[in-house]
Amino acid sequence: MASSYIILIFLLTGYCAAVGSEKCSISLNSAIHPITHPTSWTSPSGHFAFGFYQEGGGFKVGIWMVRKSQNTTVWTANRDDPPVSSNAALELTPDGQLVLKIGPGETELIANSSDSASCAAMDDAGNFILYNQHSEVIWQSFNFPTDTLLGGQSLPTGAELHSSVSWTNHSTGRFRLRMQYDNNLVLYPKDTLTSGIDAYWASNTCCYVQPVHFHLYLNFTGALLLLDNSGEYAVISDLDTSSVNHNSTIYRLILDSGGILQLYSHRFAENGDDVVSLMWTQPDNKCGVKGLCGFNSYCTMEDEQPVCRCFPGTDYVDSTNQFSGCERNFKEEWCRDARENSSSFTFKSIDQVYWQDPPYFQVTMEVADCNMSCLEDCDCEVALYDFKKGTCMKQKLPLMYAWTVPEKSFRAFFKVGLEGIEAANTNNSNSLLRVLEYKKIVESGNFGLTEELALRPFSYKELKRATNGFKEELGKGSFGAVYKGTLYRGKRVVAVKRLEKLLNEGEREFRAEMSIIGTTNHRHLVRLLGFCAEASKRLLVYEYMSNGSLADLLFRSERHPDWNERMRIALEIARGILYLHEECDTPIIHCDIKPQNILMDDFWAVKISDFGLAKLLMPDQTRTFTVIRGTRGYMAPEWHKGTPISVKTDVYSYGIMLLEIVFCRRHMDVNASTPEEIVLSSWVYGHFRDGELDKLVLGEEVDKWLLEKLVKVSLWCIQDEPALRPSMKSVVMMLDGTTEISVPPCPTAATV
Ligand SMILES: *[C@@H]1O[C@H](CO)[C@@H](O)[C@H](O)[C@H]1NC(C)=O
Ligand SMILES: *[C@@H]1O[C@H](CO)[C@@H](O)[C@H](O)[C@H]1NC(C)=O
Ligand SMILES: *[C@@H]1O[C@H](CO)[C@@H](O)[C@H](O)[C@H]1NC(C)=O
Ligand SMILES: *[C@@H]1O[C@H](CO)[C@@H](O)[C@H](O)[C@H]1NC(C)=O
Ligand SMILES: *[C@@H]1O[C@H](CO)[C@@H](O)[C@H](O)[C@H]1NC(C)=O
Ligand SMILES: *[C@@H]1O[C@H](CO)[C@@H](O)[C@H](O)[C@H]1NC(C)=O
Ligand SMILES: *[C@@H]1O[C@H](CO)[C@@H](O)[C@H](O)[C@H]1NC(C)=O
Ligand SMILES: *[C@@H]1O[C@H](CO)[C@@H](O)[C@H](O)[C@H]1NC(C)=O
Ligand SMILES: *[C@@H]1O[C@H](CO)[C@@H](O)[C@H](O)[C@H]1NC(C)=O
Ligand SMILES: *[C@@H]1O[C@H](CO)[C@@H](O)[C@H](O)[C@H]1NC(C)=O
Repeated sequence: MASSYIILIFLLTGYCAAVGSEKCSISLNSAIHPITHPTSWTSPSGHFAFGFYQEGGGFKVGIWMVRKSQNTTVWTANRDDPPVSSNAALELTPDGQLVLKIGPGETELIANSSDSASCAAMDDAGNFILYNQHSEVIWQSFNFPTDTLLGGQSLPTGAELHSSVSWTNHSTGRFRLRMQYDNNLVLYPKDTLTSGIDAYWASNTCCYVQPVHFHLYLNFTGALLLLDNSGEYAVISDLDTSSVNHNSTIYRLILDSGGILQLYSHRFAENGDDVVSLMWTQPDNKCGVKGLCGFNSYCTMEDEQPVCRCFPGTDYVDSTNQFSGCERNFKEEWCRDARENSSSFTFKSIDQVYWQDPPYFQVTMEVADCNMSCLEDCDCEVALYDFKKGTCMKQKLPLMYAWTVPEKSFRAFFKVGLEGIEAANTNNSNSLLRVLEYKKIVESGNFGLTEELALRPFSYKELKRATNGFKEELGKGSFGAVYKGTLYRGKRVVAVKRLEKLLNEGEREFRAEMSIIGTTNHRHLVRLLGFCAEASKRLLVYEYMSNGSLADLLFRSERHPDWNERMRIALEIARGILYLHEECDTPIIHCDIKPQNILMDDFWAVKISDFGLAKLLMPDQTRTFTVIRGTRGYMAPEWHKGTPISVKTDVYSYGIMLLEIVFCRRHMDVNASTPEEIVLSSWVYGHFRDGELDKLVLGEEVDKWLLEKLVKVSLWCIQDEPALRPSMKSVVMMLDGTTEISVPPCPTAATV
């Protein structure tokens, strides 16, 4: 049993030392078959075998630990390929290739090596190795881990383990363990960007003696270590195994199909029986695994097993699969109707559930006001009340990553439709300044640039009259409702925004902020005409935009803008933001760039709205927000990390929105046909990396060069690391075609 020690020495020296040919038991021109003997090549100890094992209706090629009760698969070749039939054969060919012969004339490479092998070995650590004629290792299965690491095996920096679908299906499953360049070992759901908000467990070894890069190593005595090339290490798990007979004990780390990392020891007795013990496992809470339950469902433990339950008002997407997520079981566009007819909907509450999705709005209030506040807000679909902090957090669906918590510290309220409700065909929307029926009243251009730039103060009475008692509501956003009104004896149509729940109620601060917004003047910003600050009332008067929002144009209208239009819109928005950031007297960070806040005027020109308001929700000037202001999906990672908000925060949101403009779909689409398509940015990045952008716009006539340019700009804008994102000025220059755009890295590669 000395072999494992010999292998250890080889591992520590990079495995490049020569081995005696006696170790190399499989010679060229050998073959194995699924049902005729031999079906596998076994290691000298007999504990591991490489060959065909049964899966589904056929056979897969892999390595397993040989156990009396049930063999344990530790590696699978080409795991996402379908199983092969019993006619297949695995061959180490006379010319030194390891190939799988699937059928007549159909072969598949198992080991991709530039060199040809002269022999092969299944070793006692569970590693299948090909050697060349100089007895050098030219390929080894340990370099291509699937869901398992064995004692003596490493996970290099930047590499990942991917869980299997289930213990009987070893195709790629739903979770991944990533050994990050920042030295953190982190668990994520598979189809997410590598960002902190999706992580559900981390070793917290981040930033340890950087800039050295660690790899993960499971040593032969079951210690899970982070090593660098000089052998420095951080210990993740090291139980005292000094009393164990290591000669006959095998250690195995697996990322299981439920997303849990588990370290097992197998102690083999003389007769081949093994005693299994679970030595270490993370995370402890099986329901804390993000992505275990799909959208709009929450995880709860039943009989010590995690199960997924739908939130009120939703049903399983696939009623035979509890992990499939849930979708609304009533019509989406019922909000306005509901508010006018309170008998047409209700609230359902659940206690003790919690989710980490950031709310779009959070305020301190009584629990009984929390559902009322949600009721009045068309954007609000769910409210979560935190009893400890006394805060009400309003959210939109879909909700991700929810689970039950033991303490009675949260209550969630869900707006649900009453049974059988078919909300009337209201065709209104949640977006701000959404236009209903509008007859153009302003006939002449008299109210254009010639109008004085100074802000006009209005009295509350004046605005009440102008809006006919706040009669016609155009929309409702996180700041408050917007009403249509007319001024100057009906000659000028305006939009009056009634601000609610400002953190800073002071009139002086409000006036100061108004004067900053009032000095802005740019053709791609919605003009602020005046304001009202009387007692506790705060209202803003804007020019009226007749053509709805960019969200309507991209996501609702039948006809998508053509490519020239998309390019124009992208550029106009960029110019508007550039003005806010760099060209107006006091730089303004918008903080909530999204298609709902981009309005369209009579001539379909872009007008950015809601700028300058973020500060009114900020308690002080330190730029550390206690109230999360952005909108999920468009929010840069720094919102969740507590790092300072800067102009680069807007650049990130712009990048996400640019992708939406290019592909005329929402960043997050639960309804996407495949899981890869749900998150637009990761979907696009994958195709960009593989040089297959054209597959994303099948059937559309588009200049490939233009498409690539827009995608490159977006990917630079959504880099996790703010410093990597371009300034708005560079964005404009890149879009304008005056600068060369280099190839963007993976948006999330640099950090976390
Ligand atoms: C482990 O194997 C080595 C080498 O074969 C042997 O010297 C040693 O006694 C063994 N230890 C135990 C506890 O069996
Ligand atoms: C294994 O799971 C994958 C992904 O869910 C599926 O496509 C495949 O058919 C499954 N294989 C078997 C043999 O059931
Ligand atoms: C386990 O693997 C061994 C060696 O390949 C094989 O002989 C045996 O049939 C397998 N056992 C099961 C239950 O599949
Ligand atoms: C084999 O590896 C090389 C280099 O890593 C790669 O370029 C090539 O595409 C691989 N071939 C196959 C069939 O995987
Ligand atoms: C494995 O790592 C632990 C912790 O560093 C160490 O005590 C032990 O000696 C190591 N085992 C081997 C075989 O190197
Ligand atoms: C309110 O809803 C109820 C039930 O759907 C309906 O019967 C009633 O006509 C509605 N009232 C108004 C004013 O729309
Ligand atoms: C709001 O929640 C409170 C406390 O849970 C409850 O008493 C009240 O009936 C709810 N109101 C509505 C309209 O659901
Ligand atoms: C909105 O509603 C009106 C009248 O109910 C209908 O004629 C129109 O087609 C609807 N528009 C959209 C975009 O659904
Ligand atoms: C947009 O404006 C144009 C010109 O005023 C008008 O013809 C069109 O109907 C408007 N579209 C919408 C959706 O309001
Ligand atoms: C989602 O997909 C289903 C089935 O493909 C379809 O019926 C439904 O209208 C879609 N929902 C949305 C919001 O696109």
